[in-house]
Amino acid sequence: MPIIKADIYLGDCLEVLASYPDNVFDLIITSPPYADSRAHTYGGIKPNDYVTWFLPRAQQFFRVLKPTGTFILNIKEKVVDGERHTYVIELTLELRKQGWLWTEEFIWHKKNCYQGKWPNRFRDAWERCLQFNKTKKFHMYQEAVMVPMGDWANTRLKKLSNTDKIRDTSKVGSGFGKNVSNWLNRTMAYPTNVLHPATTNRQHSAVFPPELPAWFIKLFTQENDWVLDPFSGAGTTGQVAQSLLRNSVGIEIKPEYYELSKTNLDNPMTYQLFANHNLYENS
Ligand SMILES: C[S@@+](CC[C@H](N)C(=O)[O-])C[C@H]1O[C@@H](n2cnc3c(N)ncnc32)[C@H](O)[C@@H]1O
Repeated sequence: MPIIKADIYLGDCLEVLASYPDNVFDLIITSPPYADSRAHTYGGIKPNDYVTWFLPRAQQFFRVLKPTGTFILNIKEKVVDGERHTYVIELTLELRKQGWLWTEEFIWHKKNCYQGKWPNRFRDAWERCLQFNKTKKFHMYQEAVMVPMGDWANTRLKKLSNTDKIRDTSKVGSGFGKNVSNWLNRTMAYPTNVLHPATTNRQHSAVFPPELPAWFIKLFTQENDWVLDPFSGAGTTGQVAQSLLRNSVGIEIKPEYYELSKTNLDNPMTYQLFANHNLYENS
């Protein structure tokens, strides 16, 4: 069996990646510092400076990603002076100018988030996971993230109408069509682009729930492929990648999180921790 590598570097991802060759990684998945947030723990970039700060790093990501690879960017715009700042929208537009295709947007719904109310808004319970690619021919392994059909099938498929038994094509000309009867006797279904992993609080103030990188790693890579997390924090992506038999590189600028990552990488997670069904609302 090939040896799986889990490398971790201390430094600014901009500088560390500069010495990497082109077209190495199959997947880049990361959660960079959000503008201004957690300035006391790992520095914060001012919302108005965010795009300028991010772009040279994204240029390196573009260079080191394979043409068949995918870049998943977990990010959320903060509220500044009573309205949502536009840096995520501006960044998306600038990334397109850099050559990235903005292929898809996934929603991470934080299903266990505590309730709250502010004078002019409610609790923020979701974040974006933006998908970017270098080409339209990226690798995607959809069968790897299928989920059990669930209870809806028992009720919805019990009594089929005549329309349910033929291909029903969208009237708006989108090309979308469905034949509900195709779902009879199936046990597994394709998921949606809304994911519901519960947040966790493990040793770092903004870690990924392991199910989140696991889902994207399964969807966009195969065993022995290479995964990069350039803002690796506690090293969750590397830990998960290792457990799924993918090679990984993590880059972290803060020495204490770098040390924490090294410890975590010595303790891979068990596969059961991130089964696909944990990502669904009723789980
Ligand atoms: C939101 S956290 C990532 C948490 C990570 N997803 C996890 O599960 O542990 C962002 C991390 O990026 C690190 N960071 C900030 N600027 C960086 C840079 N220029 N290069 C590398 N790491 C950086 C921060 O110290 C922080 O630990």
